[in-house]
Amino acid sequence: MPQTDHAPFETILSALTAAGEATRLRLLSLLAEAELTVTELVTILGQSQPRVSRHLKLLVEAGLVERHREGAWVFFFIAQAGPTARFARDLVDRLASGDAHLLADRARLAEVRQARAEQAARYFAAHAATWDDVRAMHVPEERVEAAIREAIGAKPLHAALDLGTGGGRMLELLAPLASRAVGVDQSPQMLSVARARVERAGLRNVQLRQGDIYALPVEPDFYDLAIMHQVLHYLDDPLRAIREAARALRPGGRLLVVDFAPHEQEELRVAHAHRRLGFSGEEVAGFMTASGLDFVMRRDLAPEAREGGKLTVSLWLGRDRRMLADPVPLTTREVA
Ligand SMILES: C[S@@+](CC[C@H](N)C(=O)[O-])C[C@H]1O[C@@H](n2cnc3c(N)ncnc32)[C@H](O)[C@@H]1O
Repeated sequence: MPQTDHAPFETILSALTAAGEATRLRLLSLLAEAELTVTELVTILGQSQPRVSRHLKLLVEAGLVERHREGAWVFFFIAQAGPTARFARDLVDRLASGDAHLLADRARLAEVRQARAEQAARYFAAHAATWDDVRAMHVPEERVEAAIREAIGAKPLHAALDLGTGGGRMLELLAPLASRAVGVDQSPQMLSVARARVERAGLRNVQLRQGDIYALPVEPDFYDLAIMHQVLHYLDDPLRAIREAARALRPGGRLLVVDFAPHEQEELRVAHAHRRLGFSGEEVAGFMTASGLDFVMRRDLAPEAREGGKLTVSLWLGRDRRMLADPVPLTTREVA
């Protein structure tokens, strides 16, 4: 739905009433930064859970904040749609970034994110060697890989990027198609598993880099294919990750996201550090569109009857909207 700058009088009045209180304005500013749970907001603000919940309820009712329940967790984020979404974003943009309260909130948000990242990193460090077993929780990997091959096609690529490469399996699929393939992961343990795999397979056109998906250590506007396979559900800000991936794509470049469809296996949060219990088709398509990509296709791989209990895996393909110019040869524009 196209967003307009205008909303009915009553809507603006209730939005002003909801935002016109110190804690709620701080909440709005935090939720413009990240999608957060009540527990995280309680930690950041240092206020009781009932109080924070009450403030959130008012913000949601006024259309300034949206909520999304997923299993036992509820995520809150600044409104993305509706007549008050632009208003909410505008209010936050007008706040002076040097304000002491907001700076303190940001600092605690950074601590919460850091703690979460460390928890995930500990998980990956502990599971690096057995990662291939964990992959077996969903529909068989052969089916997923066949669908990936089909989605990306057999056309040669200049440069391919594997985001959250983990043990590097996707690099094995991409490297034979590409002049150069780059795998990025934040976990040194995962990267050493990937390095061993790449060496074993004799892939000489692969580079591995330690780095954060939110601040990719790669050239922008360069890659003609990026893949994010089973990574999105660990991230606290999937939209930001997709925006950053889109930044790495050259005009006409494609992004393939492979992840779980919505599921109810809450225990994966505790046992396997999952943050999100899968994604709906519309959600990832929306992330792509908001990142300047055309959403090209989605495919769901549901478990067959004999694979009971396993999870559905979805593939989403997006393409950079800019026209594809003459490909720049790698010899003149080397991957950093
Ligand atoms: C499920 S695992 C590996 C999946 C891998 N793509 C595969 O196909 O096997 C997810 C990977 O994402 C990485 N990861 C999670 N958050 C990350 C971040 N913010 N930046 C970079 N890597 C991240 C983890 O270290 C982990 O190796």
